[in-house]
Amino acid sequence: MSTTTSTLPGGTTSLGDLTVTRFGYGAMQLAGPGVMGPPADPAGAVAVLRAAVEAGITHIDTSAAYGPLVTNELIREALHPYPDPVHVVTKVGARRDAQGGWPTARTPEELRRQVHDNLDSLGLDVLDLVNLRVGDAQGPRDGSLAAAFETLAELQQQGLVRHLGVSNATGAQVAEARVIAPVVCVQNLYNLAHREDDVLVDHLAAEGIAYVPFFPLGGFSPLQSATLAGVAARLGATPMAVALAWLLQRSPNVLLIPGTSSVEHLHANIAGAGLTLSASDVEELDHL
Ligand SMILES: NC(=O)c1ccc[n+]([C@@H]2O[C@H](COP(=O)([O-])OP(=O)(O)OC[C@H]3O[C@@H](n4cnc5c(N)ncnc54)[C@H](OP(=O)(O)O)[C@@H]3O)[C@@H](O)[C@H]2O)c1
Repeated sequence: MSTTTSTLPGGTTSLGDLTVTRFGYGAMQLAGPGVMGPPADPAGAVAVLRAAVEAGITHIDTSAAYGPLVTNELIREALHPYPDPVHVVTKVGARRDAQGGWPTARTPEELRRQVHDNLDSLGLDVLDLVNLRVGDAQGPRDGSLAAAFETLAELQQQGLVRHLGVSNATGAQVAEARVIAPVVCVQNLYNLAHREDDVLVDHLAAEGIAYVPFFPLGGFSPLQSATLAGVAARLGATPMAVALAWLLQRSPNVLLIPGTSSVEHLHANIAGAGLTLSASDVEELDHL
């Protein structure tokens, strides 16, 4: 993977043959409380999505399961027809139940339906990148993903999907998927306080595969740590800025998809991610 400059911190990098900004945008929480519609503020959500693209962001992360369909419909309303450089990355492998749970949905028929749901709700003929989400709400789980990934590879061969990735996956599952079809990214839980994937991040970097941490700011439970607060105070920055800057400096294959429902937070996060952390800052944060 090679990075180039852009006005956004981190510049641009590649996802397969797509060029995207390393600073992206995660749209999940726009769907509403509990990631179930209706959205809390539809006009505000559309404004944030447009502000993200106006700021130069070209990587938007979503799923038909958000809402369900609500986030995709907001993205379509805000951005369709998508400007050339903008790439919407989606995922399949879970559905929503009446209680707002995330039961797995990985039979061939369910996966095909989810790909078509994403195409229809986003208003696209081809999806740029689809991540197969495995594991469950508690995290990655051992077990073969072959049957599910083969289904997505068939949809890719049919021209409905350009690139494939995996999410919430173990290193063994990434390796298993790569035997079936090229994997351009892995989207797993990772942030300053959750470093279980450290070895995987470095392995993927060596293989030229992007690593896209979800919950970069802690997700529904904001990152809280005296060390993080101390480093941020010393640098005159916010803990969110330090957390994002640390991820960008962690490895060139790391792409950011922080979520926010606020244009103000979006701009603060873009500015904050450009913070330069010294080697001693990073060392201190590494012991968090
Ligand atoms: N593959 C998977 O299984 C999976 C799972 C979860 C998420 N994801 C993806 O990862 C993306 C990111 O996750 P996320 O949005 O849940 O978590 P996140 O990016 O870690 O954090 C978002 C939270 O941080 C707050 N926030 C953001 N910037 C802030 C700022 N400058 N000041 C104060 N608060 C701030 C947001 O509140 P405000 O709205 O008030 O700014 C929001 O509550 C999602 O959008 C989704 O696309 C994928």
